This record gives sequence, structure tokens and C-alpha cells, in this order.
Amino acid sequence: MDQIITWTDIGPLTDIPRQGARTVEHPAGRIAVFRTIDDQVFALRDACPHKQGPLSEGIVHGQAVTCPLHNWVIDLVSGQATGPDEGCTGTIPARLEDGRVVLGLVPWREGAAHG
Ligand code: FES
Repeated sequence: MDQIITWTDIGPLTDIPRQGARTVEHPAGRIAVFRTIDDQVFALRDACPHKQGPLSEGIVHGQAVTCPLHNWVIDLVSGQATGPDEGCTGTIPARLEDGRVVLGLVPWREGAAHG
């Protein structure tokens, strides 16, 4: 079944520090919007699949973010924990349009946390 996506401009890319993030409040939960060192943007639910740590306060490296609480590494594309850790956080479509960050707001796609 197709989901309805509402593309929403959340501001200029320059509002987000390179290798950092900003947050966007949403009725379904806070969203962390990440900027990589080469100016790609990704958005995840701002809750680590381990113990809900604030991923927006983590460090971005490549296309991943390290959770500030216990150092799980979360893939920014899939929301999946990498390495030996298991779990997934919701992803939100994100893209750049003329230097502005646009999010595709859809219902959360929750991953199953195991273990
Ligand atoms: S809450 Fe993120 S690693 Fe523990």
C-alpha cells in the first residue's frame, strides 16, 4: 500500500553542522536530521534502537552516526545498528533542494529490536 508523503522544507542545509545534526519536532516523535562531511542529508527517528539514546547528539562519520550513550553505530541509510549489535530505528526520507533540507514525512517505519 502506498504511503502519502508530505514533503516539508525544514530550513537551509547550513543550519546543520557538518558531521552533526539538528532536530525537528513531529507529533510522532522527534526527528534527527544529519549532515555528512560531504553534505548529504539523512533523517532518523531521534532514538537509538538500544536504549533510546539521542542520536542527534552523536558524531556522524561516513554514512553512520555513533550513539552518544553506548557507542552503537547506526547506519544513516537503513537505520540499522551495525557490527554485532541488532536493532533498527525509523528512517525518514530526506533530500536537498536548492540548498534547503526537505523531509518526506510519513508514518514511522519501526524496525524490530531484538535481544
Ligand atoms: S542508547 Fe544508543 S548505544 Fe545505548
